[in-house]
Formats: sequence, C-alpha cells, structure tokens
Amino acid sequence: MRVFVADHPLITHKLTVLRNAKTPQPTFKQLIEELMTLLAYEATREVRVEDIEIETPVTKTVGKRLSEPLPLIVPIIRAGLGMLDGMTKLVPTAEVGFLGMLRDEETHEPMTYAERLPENLEGRQCFVLDPMLATGGSLAAAIEYLFDRGADDVTAICVLGTPEGIAKIEQTIGDRNVTLVLGALDEGLDENAFIVPGLGDAGDRLYGTTA
Ligand code: PRP
Repeated sequence: MRVFVADHPLITHKLTVLRNAKTPQPTFKQLIEELMTLLAYEATREVRVEDIEIETPVTKTVGKRLSEPLPLIVPIIRAGLGMLDGMTKLVPTAEVGFLGMLRDEETHEPMTYAERLPENLEGRQCFVLDPMLATGGSLAAAIEYLFDRGADDVTAICVLGTPEGIAKIEQTIGDRNVTLVLGALDEGLDENAFIVPGLGDAGDRLYGTTA
C-alpha cells in the first residue's frame, strides 16, 4: 500500500481552522470541500489516461483524456458526502457511487446500511472519500467491498488518519493495489476511538446530530 501524507502550508492552515471547535458549520463544510480539492490533485496522480488527437487553432497535436471505464468516486455516507463536490470539481466526468456506513458507538465496528454502485467494477479505478480514518474498520470494509465487486485499484482520500487506521487497512488489503492520501497523520485514538487531536465528529460538524 502506498501512503501519502500531505505536506503543504495551505493544507495545514485549512486543517487548523477545521480542527478548531469554534469554527462554525458553514466554514467547516467549505473547508472540507476545499481540502478535498487540494488532496485530489495528489490522489489523481496515477489516474488512467489515453492519447487523443486534437486540432488546436494552429495545428494537430496529441493530448490525453481519461480512459474508459471512467474513474468511480465513492463517498462514504454521511461525512464523505462533504468531500464529493471538492472531488468532482477536478474530475467532473467521473461516475459517482455511494456506500452508507455507520460505526457502532460501543463496539466501533462498521455496519453497511446503503449501497448504490455500478454492478460490475471490473477494471475500475475507484476513489473512496471519507474525512476520517480512525480505527480503519469502515474504510477497510469499504475497500474490501470494492475489490470483491471487481475493482482493481482503489485510492482512499481522508482528511485525517491515524497509525492504527493505516495498520488496519494494511492488514486487511494485503498486497492489493491501494493508495491512501491523507491531509494529516494524527497521533492516534482516545478511549472512544476518536482521532486525537482530530476535529471531533466530521458527520455531526457537517450536518448536525441527525444520524
Ligand atoms: C465516521 C467517519 C468514518 C468512520 C471512521 O463515520 O466518517 O466513516 O466514522 O471510523 P473508523 O475508522 O473507526 O471506522 P460515522 O460512523 O460517525 O458515520 P457518519 O459519517 O454518518 O457520521
């Protein structure tokens, strides 16, 4: 598995505002989207393209376009939805599928409660969006699900991650083709499996306590 942790002052600046408990909900939402766009640049570095011949006003030339099948973007409902617009701004022709996952507050085990994906993911490059990689249970289950459906390349983009979460993904996916792109790698988890220092509950801060 390849792990990329962003190292850019603008990302750190935006993350610091995001972490602040006093940051109001509209700003939090806006920042999640902006951070996604910044992380998307790195996350799509290996997106598959093919040659295409075009004519400029001056001459013929060969450029690149996204290959078919087009990339599939999979936000994990709820919190991952806050990242979707930030990603589609950069890759507007990608397809979008949805996975709804909820972490049990007691056991911290993930539960999948919704799925709307193309039936066949053969040969697909998938981009999974979820702001939080805490224990890693939810993301590991989501990645496994996509591979089971035929995906052959998964990139997960998280605003914050933990060493525990990375270890869980590594342990689950073995030698399959996975890239993890993180806005920051935090210290770890507290006794409630919340990321420390973290930013609290991303879903609640994006949408309120309506889970
Ligand atoms: C949060 C978060 C991840 C998951 C991370 O979602 O968005 O999906 O928990 O935890 P893990 O790495 O320990 O599995 P939550 O279950 O709170 O649902 P929500 O997005 O609907 O708020």
